[in-house]
Amino acid sequence: MAKDRLIIFDTTMRDGEQSPGASMTRDEKVRIGKALERLKVDVIEAGFAVASPGDFEAVKAVASAVTESTVCSLARALDKDIEVAADAIAPAPRRRIHTFIATSPIHMQHKLKMQPDQVVEQAVRAVKKARQYTDDVEFSAEDAGRSDLDFLARVFEAAIDAGATTCNFPDTVGYNLPFQIEDTIRELLTKIPNADKAIFSVHCHNDLGLAVANSLAAVRAGCRQIECTINGLGERAGNTSLEEVVMAVRTRADIVDVETGIDIQHIVPASRLVSSVTGFPVQPNKAIVGANAFAHESGIHQDGVLKHRETYEIMRAEDVGWNTNRMVLGKHSGRAAFKSRLEELGIVLADDDALNDAFARFKDLADRKHEIFDEDIQALMNAQQIEAEEARFALDDLIVTSQMGVAPVAKLKLRVDGRAVDAEAQGDGPVDAVYKAIESVADSQSDLKLYSVNAITTGTDSQGEVTVRLEKSGRIVNGLGADTDIVVASAKAYLHALNLIMRPLDRQHPQKSEGI
Ligand code: KIV
Ligand code: ZN
Repeated sequence: MAKDRLIIFDTTMRDGEQSPGASMTRDEKVRIGKALERLKVDVIEAGFAVASPGDFEAVKAVASAVTESTVCSLARALDKDIEVAADAIAPAPRRRIHTFIATSPIHMQHKLKMQPDQVVEQAVRAVKKARQYTDDVEFSAEDAGRSDLDFLARVFEAAIDAGATTCNFPDTVGYNLPFQIEDTIRELLTKIPNADKAIFSVHCHNDLGLAVANSLAAVRAGCRQIECTINGLGERAGNTSLEEVVMAVRTRADIVDVETGIDIQHIVPASRLVSSVTGFPVQPNKAIVGANAFAHESGIHQDGVLKHRETYEIMRAEDVGWNTNRMVLGKHSGRAAFKSRLEELGIVLADDDALNDAFARFKDLADRKHEIFDEDIQALMNAQQIEAEEARFALDDLIVTSQMGVAPVAKLKLRVDGRAVDAEAQGDGPVDAVYKAIESVADSQSDLKLYSVNAITTGTDSQGEVTVRLEKSGRIVNGLGADTDIVVASAKAYLHALNLIMRPLDRQHPQKSEGI
Protein backbone atom coordinates (compact mmCIF):
# COMPACT_ATOMS: atom_id res chain seq x y z
CA MET A 1 0.00 0.00 0.00
CA ALA A 2 1.29 3.48 -0.87
CA LYS A 3 2.47 5.45 2.11
CA ASP A 4 1.08 8.85 3.07
CA ARG A 5 3.22 11.79 2.10
CA LEU A 6 4.74 13.68 5.03
CA ILE A 7 5.00 17.35 4.12
CA ILE A 8 8.29 18.94 5.12
CA PHE A 9 7.84 22.57 6.02
CA ASP A 10 11.16 24.32 6.53
CA THR A 11 11.27 27.36 8.78
CA THR A 12 15.05 27.91 8.91
CA MET A 13 14.59 31.39 7.46
CA ARG A 14 11.81 32.37 9.86
CA ASP A 15 11.92 30.53 13.20
CA GLY A 16 15.58 29.63 12.65
CA GLU A 17 16.38 33.25 12.01
CA GLN A 18 14.87 34.10 15.38
CA SER A 19 17.93 32.57 17.10
CA PRO A 20 19.84 35.47 18.61
CA GLY A 21 22.41 36.60 16.05
CA ALA A 22 21.21 34.32 13.23
CA SER A 23 19.75 37.01 11.02
CA MET A 24 20.22 36.58 7.29
CA THR A 25 20.49 39.13 4.51
CA ARG A 26 18.20 39.05 1.49
CA ASP A 27 20.87 37.46 -0.72
CA GLU A 28 21.69 34.87 1.93
CA LYS A 29 18.02 33.98 2.12
CA VAL A 30 17.90 33.51 -1.63
CA ARG A 31 20.88 31.15 -1.44
CA ILE A 32 19.28 29.19 1.36
CA GLY A 33 15.94 29.18 -0.47
CA LYS A 34 17.59 27.65 -3.54
CA ALA A 35 19.37 25.06 -1.38
CA LEU A 36 16.04 24.11 0.22
CA GLU A 37 14.47 23.83 -3.19
CA ARG A 38 17.27 21.47 -4.26
CA LEU A 39 16.49 19.42 -1.15
CA LYS A 40 12.89 19.27 -2.43
CA VAL A 41 11.44 20.79 0.70
CA ASP A 42 7.65 21.08 0.23
CA VAL A 43 7.12 24.44 1.91
CA ILE A 44 9.72 27.13 2.61
CA GLU A 45 8.78 29.69 5.24
CA ALA A 46 10.91 32.57 4.05
CA GLY A 47 10.25 35.05 6.86
CA PHE A 48 7.81 37.33 8.59
CA ALA A 49 7.17 39.88 5.86
CA VAL A 50 5.56 42.61 7.95
CA ALA A 51 8.40 42.72 10.50
CA SER A 52 10.38 45.32 8.53
CA PRO A 53 11.00 46.51 4.96
CA GLY A 54 14.13 44.31 4.99
CA ASP A 55 12.10 41.24 5.92
CA PHE A 56 9.54 42.04 3.24
CA GLU A 57 12.24 42.37 0.56
CA ALA A 58 13.87 39.12 1.66
CA VAL A 59 10.61 37.13 1.49
CA LYS A 60 9.85 38.66 -1.90
CA ALA A 61 13.32 37.82 -3.22
CA VAL A 62 12.90 34.17 -2.14
CA ALA A 63 9.42 34.10 -3.70
CA SER A 64 10.95 35.38 -6.96
CA ALA A 65 13.79 32.83 -6.94
CA VAL A 66 12.00 29.63 -5.87
CA THR A 67 9.73 27.95 -8.38
CA GLU A 68 9.29 24.36 -7.19
CA SER A 69 8.63 24.60 -3.44
CA THR A 70 5.73 26.53 -1.95
CA VAL A 71 6.89 29.84 -0.49
CA CYS A 72 5.27 30.98 2.73
CA SER A 73 5.29 34.08 4.92
CA LEU A 74 4.27 34.21 8.56
CA ALA A 75 1.59 36.75 9.53
CA ARG A 76 -0.08 37.50 12.83
CA ALA A 77 -3.87 37.29 12.70
CA LEU A 78 -4.03 40.92 11.61
CA ASP A 79 -5.24 42.38 8.31
CA LYS A 80 -2.10 44.41 7.77
CA ASP A 81 0.21 41.41 8.37
CA ILE A 82 -1.77 39.28 5.95
CA GLU A 83 -1.83 41.95 3.24
CA VAL A 84 1.94 42.43 3.48
CA ALA A 85 2.55 38.65 3.53
CA ALA A 86 0.39 38.25 0.41
CA ASP A 87 2.32 40.99 -1.35
CA ALA A 88 5.68 39.49 -0.45
CA ILE A 89 4.90 35.96 -1.67
CA ALA A 90 3.05 37.14 -4.79
CA PRO A 91 5.93 36.36 -7.23
CA ALA A 92 6.03 32.66 -6.25
CA PRO A 93 4.14 30.13 -8.38
CA ARG A 94 3.06 28.32 -5.16
CA ARG A 95 2.16 30.53 -2.22
CA ARG A 96 1.11 29.98 1.35
CA ILE A 97 0.10 32.43 4.08
CA HIS A 98 0.74 31.18 7.61
CA THR A 99 -1.30 33.08 10.16
CA PHE A 100 -1.20 32.54 13.90
CA ILE A 101 -2.73 33.56 17.19
CA ALA A 102 -2.06 32.24 20.69
CA THR A 103 -4.59 29.89 22.29
CA SER A 104 -3.13 28.99 25.70
CA PRO A 105 -4.70 30.56 28.80
CA ILE A 106 -1.39 32.14 29.80
CA HIS A 107 -0.86 33.76 26.38
CA MET A 108 -4.50 34.86 25.97
CA GLN A 109 -4.64 36.40 29.42
CA HIS A 110 -1.20 37.99 29.75
CA LYS A 111 0.00 38.63 26.22
CA LEU A 112 -3.11 39.14 24.13
CA LYS A 113 -5.41 40.31 26.91
CA MET A 114 -8.26 38.76 24.96
CA GLN A 115 -11.15 36.47 25.85
CA PRO A 116 -11.23 33.02 24.20
CA ASP A 117 -14.26 34.01 22.07
CA GLN A 118 -12.37 36.99 20.72
CA VAL A 119 -9.42 34.75 19.84
CA VAL A 120 -11.67 32.41 17.83
CA GLU A 121 -13.24 35.37 16.05
CA GLN A 122 -9.84 36.86 15.23
CA ALA A 123 -8.53 33.53 13.95
CA VAL A 124 -11.54 33.08 11.67
CA ARG A 125 -11.26 36.59 10.34
CA ALA A 126 -7.54 36.13 9.63
CA VAL A 127 -8.01 32.83 7.79
CA LYS A 128 -10.82 34.31 5.65
CA LYS A 129 -8.69 37.31 4.87
CA ALA A 130 -5.72 35.11 3.90
CA ARG A 131 -7.96 33.01 1.64
CA GLN A 132 -8.61 36.14 -0.43
CA TYR A 133 -4.99 35.90 -1.60
CA THR A 134 -4.26 32.18 -1.81
CA ASP A 135 -6.00 28.82 -1.51
CA ASP A 136 -3.12 27.57 0.64
CA VAL A 137 -3.62 28.94 4.17
CA GLU A 138 -2.04 27.59 7.32
CA PHE A 139 -3.41 28.44 10.73
CA SER A 140 -1.27 28.01 13.86
CA ALA A 141 -2.54 27.99 17.43
CA GLU A 142 0.51 29.44 19.16
CA ASP A 143 1.38 27.64 22.41
CA ALA A 144 -0.99 24.81 21.48
CA GLY A 145 1.21 22.60 23.64
CA ARG A 146 -0.16 24.36 26.74
CA SER A 147 -3.70 25.03 25.46
CA ASP A 148 -6.95 23.51 26.65
CA LEU A 149 -7.83 20.62 24.35
CA ASP A 150 -11.51 21.49 23.92
CA PHE A 151 -10.70 25.09 23.17
CA LEU A 152 -8.02 24.06 20.70
CA ALA A 153 -10.51 21.76 18.96
CA ARG A 154 -12.97 24.65 18.76
CA VAL A 155 -10.39 27.06 17.24
CA PHE A 156 -9.18 24.51 14.68
CA GLU A 157 -12.73 23.58 13.68
CA ALA A 158 -13.56 27.24 13.15
CA ALA A 159 -10.32 27.86 11.24
CA ILE A 160 -11.02 24.91 8.91
CA ASP A 161 -14.59 26.18 8.31
CA ALA A 162 -13.09 29.55 7.46
CA GLY A 163 -10.82 27.98 4.85
CA ALA A 164 -7.60 26.86 6.58
CA THR A 165 -6.01 24.03 4.61
CA THR A 166 -3.34 23.27 7.20
CA CYS A 167 -3.77 23.39 11.00
CA ASN A 168 -0.54 23.58 12.93
CA PHE A 169 0.04 22.53 16.54
CA PRO A 170 3.06 24.46 17.89
CA ASP A 171 4.71 23.30 21.08
CA THR A 172 6.01 26.85 21.34
CA VAL A 173 7.92 26.43 24.58
CA GLY A 174 9.05 22.82 24.08
CA TYR A 175 7.03 21.57 27.04
CA ASN A 176 5.46 18.39 25.68
CA LEU A 177 6.66 14.80 25.95
CA PRO A 178 6.37 12.30 23.10
CA PHE A 179 3.68 10.03 24.55
CA GLN A 180 1.71 13.09 25.67
CA ILE A 181 1.78 14.85 22.29
CA GLU A 182 0.76 11.61 20.59
CA ASP A 183 -2.30 11.28 22.87
CA THR A 184 -3.15 14.98 22.51
CA ILE A 185 -3.08 14.97 18.71
CA ARG A 186 -5.01 11.72 18.52
CA GLU A 187 -7.72 13.09 20.79
CA LEU A 188 -7.77 16.42 19.00
CA LEU A 189 -8.32 14.75 15.64
CA THR A 190 -11.28 12.80 17.00
CA LYS A 191 -12.81 15.91 18.58
CA ILE A 192 -12.64 18.07 15.44
CA PRO A 193 -15.59 17.12 13.22
CA ASN A 194 -14.07 18.59 10.03
CA ALA A 195 -10.50 17.39 10.73
CA ASP A 196 -10.48 15.49 7.43
CA LYS A 197 -10.73 18.80 5.53
CA ALA A 198 -7.23 19.95 6.53
CA ILE A 199 -3.70 18.63 6.92
CA PHE A 200 -2.59 18.59 10.54
CA SER A 201 0.91 19.77 11.29
CA VAL A 202 3.29 19.88 14.24
CA HIS A 203 5.89 22.49 15.17
CA CYS A 204 8.15 21.54 18.07
CA HIS A 205 10.75 23.46 20.01
CA ASN A 206 13.65 21.62 21.54
CA ASP A 207 13.79 22.99 25.09
CA LEU A 208 13.78 19.48 26.56
CA GLY A 209 15.72 17.97 23.65
CA LEU A 210 12.53 16.26 22.46
CA ALA A 211 11.58 18.17 19.32
CA VAL A 212 12.35 15.35 16.88
CA ALA A 213 10.79 12.69 19.12
CA ASN A 214 7.69 14.84 19.64
CA SER A 215 7.34 15.47 15.92
CA LEU A 216 7.53 11.76 15.14
CA ALA A 217 5.00 11.01 17.88
CA ALA A 218 2.64 13.58 16.35
CA VAL A 219 3.01 11.90 12.97
CA ARG A 220 2.10 8.58 14.56
CA ALA A 221 -1.08 10.24 15.81
CA GLY A 222 -2.01 11.52 12.37
CA CYS A 223 -0.06 14.73 11.61
CA ARG A 224 1.08 14.87 8.00
CA GLN A 225 3.28 17.95 8.12
CA ILE A 226 6.38 18.56 10.22
CA GLU A 227 7.81 22.03 10.66
CA CYS A 228 11.56 21.93 11.06
CA THR A 229 14.84 23.70 10.41
CA ILE A 230 18.24 22.82 9.01
CA ASN A 231 20.64 21.97 11.86
CA GLY A 232 17.71 22.37 14.27
CA LEU A 233 18.30 26.13 14.26
CA GLY A 234 15.69 28.18 16.11
CA GLU A 235 14.55 30.07 19.19
CA ARG A 236 16.37 29.09 22.40
CA ALA A 237 17.24 25.37 22.08
CA GLY A 238 16.00 25.36 18.50
CA ASN A 239 13.37 23.55 16.44
CA THR A 240 12.95 20.03 15.13
CA SER A 241 15.99 19.27 13.01
CA LEU A 242 15.05 18.61 9.38
CA GLU A 243 17.89 16.21 8.72
CA GLU A 244 17.14 14.12 11.81
CA VAL A 245 13.43 13.82 11.24
CA VAL A 246 13.80 13.07 7.54
CA MET A 247 16.45 10.42 8.14
CA ALA A 248 14.44 8.84 10.96
CA VAL A 249 11.43 8.47 8.67
CA ARG A 250 13.59 7.04 5.91
CA THR A 251 15.83 4.79 7.99
CA ARG A 252 12.89 3.31 9.89
CA ALA A 253 10.63 2.96 6.85
CA ASP A 254 9.94 -0.51 8.21
CA ILE A 255 7.85 0.93 11.05
CA VAL A 256 6.93 4.46 9.92
CA ASP A 257 3.97 4.67 7.59
CA VAL A 258 4.79 7.99 5.88
CA GLU A 259 7.45 9.10 3.41
CA THR A 260 8.97 12.45 2.52
CA GLY A 261 9.95 13.82 -0.87
CA ILE A 262 13.32 15.08 0.38
CA ASP A 263 16.37 14.54 -1.85
CA ILE A 264 18.72 13.52 0.95
CA GLN A 265 21.91 13.94 -1.14
CA HIS A 266 21.62 17.67 -0.51
CA ILE A 267 21.35 17.48 3.28
CA VAL A 268 25.02 18.03 4.15
CA PRO A 269 25.58 20.90 1.68
CA ALA A 270 22.43 22.63 3.01
CA SER A 271 23.63 22.16 6.57
CA ARG A 272 27.00 23.70 5.74
CA LEU A 273 25.41 26.62 3.96
CA VAL A 274 23.14 27.45 6.90
CA SER A 275 26.01 27.08 9.33
CA SER A 276 28.30 29.38 7.41
CA VAL A 277 25.62 31.99 6.71
CA THR A 278 24.49 32.18 10.34
CA GLY A 279 27.84 31.60 12.01
CA PHE A 280 26.33 28.80 14.09
CA PRO A 281 28.78 25.91 13.90
CA VAL A 282 27.41 22.37 13.83
CA GLN A 283 28.51 20.39 16.89
CA PRO A 284 30.75 17.46 15.84
CA ASN A 285 28.46 14.85 17.41
CA LYS A 286 25.27 16.25 15.81
CA ALA A 287 23.30 13.43 14.17
CA ILE A 288 23.56 13.21 10.36
CA VAL A 289 25.45 16.47 9.74
CA GLY A 290 28.06 16.59 12.54
CA ALA A 291 31.66 15.95 11.52
CA ASN A 292 31.72 12.79 13.67
CA ALA A 293 28.27 11.51 12.72
CA PHE A 294 29.79 8.77 10.57
CA ALA A 295 33.28 8.53 12.08
CA HIS A 296 34.29 5.36 13.88
CA GLU A 297 37.03 5.78 16.43
CA SER A 298 36.93 2.56 18.38
CA GLY A 299 38.98 -0.29 16.94
CA ILE A 300 36.13 -2.75 17.43
CA HIS A 301 33.75 -0.53 15.47
CA GLN A 302 36.28 0.11 12.70
CA ASP A 303 36.95 -3.58 12.36
CA GLY A 304 33.21 -4.35 12.25
CA VAL A 305 32.50 -1.69 9.63
CA LEU A 306 35.34 -2.89 7.43
CA LYS A 307 34.03 -6.46 7.59
CA HIS A 308 30.40 -5.55 7.08
CA ARG A 309 29.24 -1.95 7.08
CA GLU A 310 25.86 -2.58 8.68
CA THR A 311 27.49 -3.90 11.87
CA TYR A 312 27.74 -0.34 13.15
CA GLU A 313 26.10 1.87 10.52
CA ILE A 314 22.38 2.38 10.02
CA MET A 315 22.79 5.02 7.28
CA ARG A 316 25.36 5.69 4.58
CA ALA A 317 27.33 8.92 4.83
CA GLU A 318 27.43 9.36 1.06
CA ASP A 319 23.63 9.13 0.84
CA VAL A 320 23.22 12.37 2.79
CA GLY A 321 25.91 14.22 0.85
CA TRP A 322 29.11 13.50 2.75
CA ASN A 323 32.22 13.14 0.62
CA THR A 324 30.54 14.02 -2.62
CA ASN A 325 32.29 16.70 -4.67
CA ARG A 326 34.85 17.12 -1.92
CA MET A 327 37.67 18.46 -4.05
CA VAL A 328 36.49 20.72 -6.75
CA LEU A 329 39.01 23.20 -7.97
CA GLY A 330 42.63 24.26 -7.73
CA LYS A 331 45.16 26.82 -8.83
CA HIS A 332 44.87 25.91 -12.48
CA SER A 333 41.10 25.94 -12.68
CA GLY A 334 39.72 28.52 -15.06
CA ARG A 335 36.91 31.02 -14.86
CA ALA A 336 34.44 28.73 -16.63
CA ALA A 337 35.04 25.85 -14.20
CA PHE A 338 34.70 28.24 -11.27
CA LYS A 339 31.47 29.69 -12.66
CA SER A 340 29.95 26.27 -13.24
CA ARG A 341 30.87 25.18 -9.68
CA LEU A 342 29.15 28.30 -8.34
CA GLU A 343 26.05 27.38 -10.32
CA GLU A 344 26.10 23.84 -8.94
CA LEU A 345 26.31 25.29 -5.43
CA GLY A 346 23.31 27.50 -6.17
CA ILE A 347 25.35 30.69 -5.84
CA VAL A 348 23.91 33.41 -8.01
CA LEU A 349 26.08 36.46 -8.66
CA ALA A 350 24.52 39.75 -9.63
CA ASP A 351 26.64 40.47 -12.71
CA ASP A 352 29.98 39.95 -14.46
CA ASP A 353 31.73 42.37 -12.11
CA ALA A 354 30.68 40.26 -9.13
CA LEU A 355 31.89 37.13 -10.92
CA ASN A 356 35.24 38.76 -11.73
CA ASP A 357 35.64 39.79 -8.11
CA ALA A 358 34.75 36.29 -6.89
CA PHE A 359 37.18 34.71 -9.36
CA ALA A 360 39.99 37.03 -8.22
CA ARG A 361 39.33 35.99 -4.61
CA PHE A 362 39.33 32.35 -5.66
CA LYS A 363 42.70 32.73 -7.44
CA ASP A 364 44.15 34.50 -4.42
CA LEU A 365 43.04 31.66 -2.16
CA ALA A 366 44.27 29.03 -4.62
CA ASP A 367 47.74 30.60 -4.41
CA ARG A 368 47.74 29.94 -0.67
CA LYS A 369 45.81 26.70 -0.59
CA HIS A 370 46.38 23.69 -2.79
CA GLU A 371 42.88 22.25 -3.02
CA ILE A 372 39.73 24.35 -3.04
CA PHE A 373 36.64 22.61 -1.67
CA ASP A 374 32.98 23.58 -1.80
CA GLU A 375 33.22 24.88 1.78
CA ASP A 376 36.08 27.21 0.71
CA ILE A 377 33.95 28.59 -2.11
CA GLN A 378 31.05 29.15 0.26
CA ALA A 379 33.35 31.00 2.67
CA LEU A 380 34.69 33.13 -0.19
CA MET A 381 31.15 34.04 -1.18
CA ASN A 382 30.31 34.96 2.41
CA ALA A 383 33.37 37.20 2.53
CA GLN A 384 32.41 38.85 -0.74
CA GLN A 385 28.91 39.47 0.55
CA ILE A 386 30.13 40.82 3.89
CA GLU A 387 32.54 43.20 2.20
CA ALA A 388 29.78 44.44 -0.11
CA GLU A 389 27.69 45.46 2.91
CA GLU A 390 27.90 48.98 4.21
CA ALA A 391 30.73 48.95 6.71
CA ARG A 392 32.05 51.53 9.14
CA PHE A 393 35.14 49.46 9.98
CA ALA A 394 37.40 47.61 7.56
CA LEU A 395 40.79 45.96 7.78
CA ASP A 396 43.61 47.18 5.52
CA ASP A 397 46.58 45.50 7.15
CA LEU A 398 47.59 43.53 10.19
CA ILE A 399 50.93 42.61 11.76
CA VAL A 400 51.12 40.51 14.89
CA THR A 401 54.34 39.63 16.65
CA SER A 402 54.12 36.57 18.78
CA GLN A 403 56.95 34.89 20.62
CA MET A 404 56.92 32.31 23.38
CA GLY A 405 57.09 33.96 26.79
CA VAL A 406 56.52 37.48 25.42
CA ALA A 407 53.13 39.26 25.29
CA PRO A 408 52.01 39.47 21.63
CA VAL A 409 51.60 42.87 20.00
CA ALA A 410 49.14 43.64 17.20
CA LYS A 411 49.51 46.57 14.82
CA LEU A 412 46.54 47.20 12.56
CA LYS A 413 45.73 49.56 9.75
CA LEU A 414 42.00 50.12 9.80
CA ARG A 415 39.58 52.15 7.77
CA VAL A 416 36.97 53.82 9.93
CA ASP A 417 34.21 55.66 8.05
CA GLY A 418 36.58 55.82 5.08
CA ARG A 419 39.51 57.30 7.09
CA ALA A 420 42.83 55.45 7.61
CA VAL A 421 43.45 54.81 11.31
CA ASP A 422 46.35 52.99 12.99
CA ALA A 423 45.72 50.86 16.07
CA GLU A 424 48.11 48.99 18.33
CA ALA A 425 47.73 46.89 21.47
CA GLN A 426 49.32 44.18 23.53
CA GLY A 427 47.28 41.14 24.55
CA ASP A 428 47.28 37.80 26.32
CA GLY A 429 47.39 36.09 22.95
CA PRO A 430 47.56 37.26 19.32
CA VAL A 431 43.76 37.36 18.93
CA ASP A 432 43.35 39.18 22.23
CA ALA A 433 45.93 41.75 21.08
CA VAL A 434 44.07 42.26 17.79
CA TYR A 435 40.70 42.70 19.53
CA LYS A 436 42.15 45.15 22.04
CA ALA A 437 43.70 47.14 19.19
CA ILE A 438 40.35 47.29 17.36
CA GLU A 439 38.49 48.30 20.52
CA SER A 440 41.05 51.03 21.24
CA VAL A 441 39.62 52.69 18.12
CA ALA A 442 36.00 51.48 18.08
CA ASP A 443 35.14 51.71 21.79
CA SER A 444 31.97 49.75 20.99
CA GLN A 445 30.92 49.08 24.62
CA SER A 446 29.83 45.63 23.52
CA ASP A 447 30.45 42.30 25.25
CA LEU A 448 32.16 39.42 23.52
CA LYS A 449 29.81 36.45 24.05
CA LEU A 450 31.42 33.89 21.82
CA TYR A 451 34.63 33.39 19.92
CA SER A 452 35.01 30.18 17.97
CA VAL A 453 37.31 28.91 15.23
CA ASN A 454 36.46 26.04 12.93
CA ALA A 455 38.61 24.53 10.25
CA ILE A 456 36.48 24.79 7.09
CA THR A 457 38.09 21.72 5.56
CA THR A 458 40.72 19.22 6.59
CA GLY A 459 44.48 19.82 6.50
CA THR A 460 46.71 22.43 8.10
CA ASP A 461 46.27 24.72 5.10
CA SER A 462 42.52 24.84 5.77
CA GLN A 463 40.84 28.18 6.08
CA GLY A 464 39.83 28.93 9.64
CA GLU A 465 36.29 30.23 9.92
CA VAL A 466 35.87 32.44 12.95
CA THR A 467 32.57 33.35 14.56
CA VAL A 468 32.37 36.27 16.94
CA ARG A 469 29.20 36.98 18.89
CA LEU A 470 28.83 40.45 20.39
CA GLU A 471 26.11 41.79 22.61
CA LYS A 472 25.21 45.39 23.20
CA SER A 473 22.13 46.57 25.11
CA GLY A 474 20.43 43.19 24.67
CA ARG A 475 21.08 43.02 20.95
CA ILE A 476 23.17 40.10 19.72
CA VAL A 477 25.02 39.79 16.42
CA ASN A 478 27.28 37.18 14.87
CA GLY A 479 30.31 38.23 12.83
CA LEU A 480 32.08 35.88 10.44
CA GLY A 481 35.56 35.86 8.98
CA ALA A 482 37.54 33.26 7.07
CA ASP A 483 41.17 33.10 6.07
CA THR A 484 44.03 30.62 5.96
CA ASP A 485 45.56 32.82 8.70
CA ILE A 486 43.27 32.48 11.71
CA VAL A 487 44.43 35.75 13.25
CA VAL A 488 43.36 37.58 10.09
CA ALA A 489 40.09 35.58 10.10
CA SER A 490 39.59 36.63 13.74
CA ALA A 491 40.10 40.31 12.92
CA LYS A 492 37.66 40.10 10.00
CA ALA A 493 35.03 38.36 12.15
CA TYR A 494 35.32 40.96 14.90
CA LEU A 495 35.05 43.85 12.45
CA HIS A 496 32.04 42.21 10.79
CA ALA A 497 30.31 41.88 14.17
CA LEU A 498 31.16 45.50 15.01
CA ASN A 499 29.67 46.70 11.73
CA LEU A 500 26.48 44.78 12.45
CA ILE A 501 26.11 45.94 16.02
CA MET A 502 26.62 49.57 15.11
CA ARG A 503 23.90 49.45 12.47
CA PRO A 504 20.43 50.79 13.34
CA LEU A 505 18.01 47.96 14.07
CA ASP A 506 15.51 47.44 11.24
CA ARG A 507 14.24 43.94 11.98
CA GLN A 508 11.64 42.89 14.49
CA HIS A 509 11.24 39.57 16.23
CA PRO A 510 7.71 38.26 15.41
CA GLN A 511 6.98 37.10 18.91
CA LYS A 512 8.23 40.37 20.34
CA SER A 513 5.71 42.26 18.25
CA GLU A 514 3.06 44.25 20.02
CA GLY A 515 -0.54 43.13 20.07
CA ILE A 516 -1.55 39.76 18.73
O1 KIV B 1 6.72 28.39 18.07
C1 KIV B 1 5.70 28.93 17.61
O2 KIV B 1 4.63 28.99 18.23
C2 KIV B 1 5.79 29.53 16.29
C3 KIV B 1 4.50 29.86 15.62
C4 KIV B 1 4.51 31.25 15.11
C5 KIV B 1 4.18 28.84 14.60
O3 KIV B 1 6.86 29.65 15.75
ZN1 ZN C 1 8.35 28.32 16.71
